[in-house]
Amino acid sequence: MIGLAKVLIGKASDTPEGKLTHISAGGKEIVIANVGGSYYAMGNICNHAGAELHEGEISGKELTCPWHGAKWDITTGNLLWFPQKLNTQQTFKVNQENDSLYVEIT
Ligand code: FES
Repeated sequence: MIGLAKVLIGKASDTPEGKLTHISAGGKEIVIANVGGSYYAMGNICNHAGAELHEGEISGKELTCPWHGAKWDITTGNLLWFPQKLNTQQTFKVNQENDSLYVEIT
């Protein structure tokens, strides 16, 4: 995909802290969370072995993979904990307009 696409995720009011939302758009799988009233989006497929991260758990900014427990920072895509080094997950910018959340797909 060339350029930037703005894709509707859903309503901010349906995205409380502690809940993981996911969408598929522009060939990307994306997981979205509310961290302290701000919204963050990251690639939904764990680069360790391919788990869907929206089936994991989020506490604050820390998303735990449902398969082998890697801990990801959804605000940066950085790995917080795992026994081996993993690549950083891609992150995406989330914009809020009134009660609508949009993700920018690059
Ligand atoms: S697939 Fe995520 S930690 Fe293994």
